Amino acid sequence: MDLETNLLKEFEEFLQNNIPTKKSFHPHFEVAMKKMFSAGGKRFRPLLLLSVVQNYEPLLVKNAFYPSLALEMIHTYSLIHDDLPTFDDSPLRRGVETLHVTYDEVTATLVADALNTDAFLTLSNSPLSSDTVVKLTQELSYGAGVNGMVLGQALDCYFENQKLSLEQLMFIHIHKTAYLISTALKMGAIISNLPKQKVNLFGELGLKIGLLFQVVDDLIDATKSSDEAGKPTNNDTNKNSYTNLLGVEGANQKRDELKEEIKGLLDKLDVNMKQRLQKLIEKYL
Ligand code: IPE
Ligand code: IPE
Ligand code: MG
Ligand code: MG
Ligand code: MG
Repeated sequence: MDLETNLLKEFEEFLQNNIPTKKSFHPHFEVAMKKMFSAGGKRFRPLLLLSVVQNYEPLLVKNAFYPSLALEMIHTYSLIHDDLPTFDDSPLRRGVETLHVTYDEVTATLVADALNTDAFLTLSNSPLSSDTVVKLTQELSYGAGVNGMVLGQALDCYFENQKLSLEQLMFIHIHKTAYLISTALKMGAIISNLPKQKVNLFGELGLKIGLLFQVVDDLIDATKSSDEAGKPTNNDTNKNSYTNLLGVEGANQKRDELKEEIKGLLDKLDVNMKQRLQKLIEKYL
């Protein structure tokens, strides 16, 4: 078993044991809180964070499970909202029925709200220095909130059915997807106590990887089956996506261009870190 597979296995166990829930007389809220986590998910963002920590401060990997879980909770809340009828109206996520279909929109909305809030409780419980936890809180808030994912989602949904320019599309993709991926790498660098310049290099690299991630996600929507994707495909035909603006060929070309740019940035890292990230990119992108 390679290092990343092992890391993923250990993190998954931690995650399943630490999803926040509370027993009550609600007939399904407790189960609903866990459903999207037991369904699957690639855990791409936690893996990025943990790969950086394992490379520079291996003794802190287990401590870094807390911020990694916080990040995955934020990501999962964004997916639950993204699937709601007022967003992308999707009945399937991670190969299972979405929460608003199984239960109702109130349950789905509130599960996502709880994940959004409790992510910061989980982060605050991290066995890391207070200084690090403050920096991580700032980073995660920045990537997830109005400076990042939320603004991207607002633009993506508002401009559905209206064709935007490529520059505007990039702005949306960078905000809705790339910031949180960049945040993952930066959080790993912060936990590892790397100098600011290096943290920023990870940030820059993360934005490129994040953009690549969304181009690939758009290609999945346009070219894969729902079974392969674990979510409905051809669901974004009214959206501003790379495939809608540039066609599949144009999106593939963009993917190759981004991969080249990423290679250039990876060359600025030490060889072990570079190889780890290269492996993750090859596996998922
Ligand atoms: C899907 O994210 C939403 C995007 C930002 C493109 P992932 O592809 O990481 O979804 P999971 O976590 O593996 O389900
Ligand atoms: C969603 O983008 C990005 C989020 C912030 C959740 P998409 O709408 O393309 O994600 P999928 O394809 O439904 O996973
Ligand atoms: Mg969407
Ligand atoms: Mg969607
Ligand atoms: Mg998509």
